[in-house]
Amino acid sequence: MNILESSSDLSEELFLCPSGKPFLNRGIFQPLNQERMNNTQILHSIPVDPLTGSIGTPIYLTSTFVQEAPGINRGFAYGRTGNPTRSILEQLIAQLEGGASGSAFASGLAAIDAVVRLLHSGDEILALDDLYGGAFRLFTQVYNRYDIRVSFADAGDVGAVLDAITPRTKLIWIESPSNPTLKIADIEAIARLARAHGILLCVDNTFASPVLQQPLRLGADIVVHSATKYLGGHSDLIAGLVVTREEALGEQIRFFQNAAGAVLSPFDSWLVIRGIETLSLRVKHQSRTAGILAEALQQHPLIRHVNYPGLTTHPNHEVAARQSSGFGAVLSFALKEDTEAAARLLITSTRRFLLAESLGGVKSLVSHPATMTHKTIPPAQRRAAGVHDSLVRLSVGLEEPEDLLEDLHQALATVYQKIIRKKSIHE
Ligand SMILES: Cc1ncc(COP(=O)(O)O)c(C=O)c1O
Repeated sequence: MNILESSSDLSEELFLCPSGKPFLNRGIFQPLNQERMNNTQILHSIPVDPLTGSIGTPIYLTSTFVQEAPGINRGFAYGRTGNPTRSILEQLIAQLEGGASGSAFASGLAAIDAVVRLLHSGDEILALDDLYGGAFRLFTQVYNRYDIRVSFADAGDVGAVLDAITPRTKLIWIESPSNPTLKIADIEAIARLARAHGILLCVDNTFASPVLQQPLRLGADIVVHSATKYLGGHSDLIAGLVVTREEALGEQIRFFQNAAGAVLSPFDSWLVIRGIETLSLRVKHQSRTAGILAEALQQHPLIRHVNYPGLTTHPNHEVAARQSSGFGAVLSFALKEDTEAAARLLITSTRRFLLAESLGGVKSLVSHPATMTHKTIPPAQRRAAGVHDSLVRLSVGLEEPEDLLEDLHQALATVYQKIIRKKSIHE
């Protein structure tokens, strides 16, 4: 039945529901038991406004909601606790990831922070060794004050993860693909390990997005996103999301969301919803271009190695092919001339690839992790995790592949002229 035809039933749910009940019940959304969603399903998962028929999601700019009597309201009481626009995004991301509950935060780091709040003093996090720099800083410089410790393992090696588990490990934290070395963790195998030891598994799914990979279906307990990246998709907002497989865990996350208050604004919730409408098209197109660039760069004489899970030379290519439907649109590469100076020259010589932190937008970006996103990680630890001095990370956008390739070739030619050729003349 059309949503508007059923509006008399809906109005009961919309206006008479007691405090705490969601604004839009799940009946409005598609059933949860389907596999990865295609673009038709994604588009039709975003509800038409049941009040007015508005095809665009309404933005509810309000801090509070009028109540009939104390505790009797229409599903919302106060804007930090819940907002109808945010609620649509939270249910949408839960559905995209195949989870029971979603929560939207003011940033990806606020989402990560909410998950760490599940722990207690004395607990340990076991994290992948090339963890995103902001998460590294949060774990090692904030949560260490509360006696929550973090240890690291190569998440691409299930045996190394098993060896690093201690009786205090309560949370395993992985990114797959990881940032910026594009390591791949076998999510299903690590989820089995985690379950056998009574440990929660959280996967930062920012790089893959639910279009390519759904960690909850592979056995993870929690997924986090920096929705700043692919979900938003246009480099115009900062947002974070948490999705849990079980409702009970989602309730705890919602408790922290309300108690600590780092919620996503209604307007930014709307921007993320709008970004999700084209998520599938963008991610597939950008991933295809990234594959073309990775293949070409691998042949370049100045390049030492390319990190991209779609290359058959990637150590965990088989795992990536099994657990995701595409390899993503981020790649990184190190130069044979493994110096910061060479990388700096390269990233300041590109014209189409704009020099900026972040990824996942429609415009291609280039960055130098060692001095930008990963500068908070001590150099020895950074290099040991594969983040070499010359490592350059590319976020591939929606430009034409041949324009991007030409741009990289001219930037590499500049590095050759100004550094390598000069050096060989002086030798
Ligand atoms: C993998 C990953 N997770 C989390 C974050 C943090 O997200 P935000 O910048 O939205 O706080 C980032 C940011 O770059 C990231 O790359």
